[in-house]
This record gives sequence, structure tokens and C-alpha cells, in this order.
Amino acid sequence: MAGAARPGSLAALAMAGLAALPAAGGGALAQAPEIVGDAVPRSLTGRPGDAARGRAIVLGPTRGNCTICHVVPAADERFHGDLAPSLRGVADRLTLGQLRLRMVDSRRVNPETIMPAYFRVEGFRRVAAAFAGRPVMTAEEIEDVVAYLATLKE
Ligand code: HEC
Repeated sequence: MAGAARPGSLAALAMAGLAALPAAGGGALAQAPEIVGDAVPRSLTGRPGDAARGRAIVLGPTRGNCTICHVVPAADERFHGDLAPSLRGVADRLTLGQLRLRMVDSRRVNPETIMPAYFRVEGFRRVAAAFAGRPVMTAEEIEDVVAYLATLKE
């Protein structure tokens, strides 16, 4: 799995682009989610997410940019990246809680990963004051994406 993480120039570009994303929300500072094993078992919002909205986030050009790195089994797969494992059938491999941790902070699973942390609220260095404590996605967006990923079964 870690073998898929080839830190090439495209990945560096992807990271640079993601770093420039505006922080989501702008409201209250996010709480660090509770991690149990390799999962975040509890919904960040206390509710299940909306898979249709999650699909739009995953395939959309902003926020996620998932298809820079991943093949997502939808739409124009041939334009999708191969820097990361395909998300085809990912819900057969990972539980809801495991999917959630990968979204929240993939580095908790693989410290070397190039996948951005979409909800990490601690451990950032040199983060602009305006972004401090504000993750890339809101808790709602994370839950929507997790709900969509959970539909990716074969
Ligand atoms: C910069 C590249 C990059 C981006 C952007 C990215 N990922 Fe990843 N992702 C990876 C890599 C590489 C892995 C493999 C895990 C590792 O590095 O050890 C991974 C792993 C995963 C996994 C676990 C897959 C498995 O089979 O274990 C999921 C789920 C996932 N990503 C979802 C997403 C979603 C959803 C998005 C968009 C919101 C996204 N990723 C954006 C690079 C990326």
C-alpha cells in the first residue's frame, strides 16, 4: 500500500494546490476526533453523512481533489490519477470508522503518506493564523465523503 505513495512532482503539485485551499467552515474551532485503533468509530457530526453530497465532493474540482491521486469508480476514470490505490471496492476493505480515519488524517495510518489530512486539527506547523485549528473540510463534508465511500462496494 505504501508502495503506491510515490512522492513525485505531480504529488508535490497536488499537495501545493491543496495547501492553498481555503479552510472550511470558519466557525468554531474543530475538536480532534477520537481515534480507536486505526479507526474513528464515531461520526464527527453525530449523524450519518449524505452519500450524494459526498460523491459531489469526491468528484468535484475543489475541496477533495481525490481524483488527482485515486481512481474513483465513476465518471471519467481515465483522467484519474494513479498515485494511490483505486477506491473501487474500498468499502469491502475498510469499515466506516476506518474510512473516517483515512479522511481525517491518513498519516495516523501511514506517516509517510502523501494523502492530505482533511480534518487534522493538531500537528500543523507554520499554519497561517487564520487557518489554525480549522481543517480543510468541515465535519459535515467529512461525513458526506465517508457515506459516499461506504457505497463503493463490489
Ligand atoms: C495527494 C494524493 C492523494 C489525494 C489528493 C487523496 N488521496 Fe487518498 N490516498 C492516497 C494514498 C497514496 C493512499 C494510500 C495510503 C498510503 O499512502 O499509505 C490513499 C489512501 C486512501 C484511502 C484508503 C484506501 C485503501 O484501500 O486502504 C481512502 C479511503 C482514500 N485515500 C480516500 C481519499 C479521498 C476520498 C480523497 C479526496 C477527498 C483522497 N483520498 C485524496 C493519496 C491521496
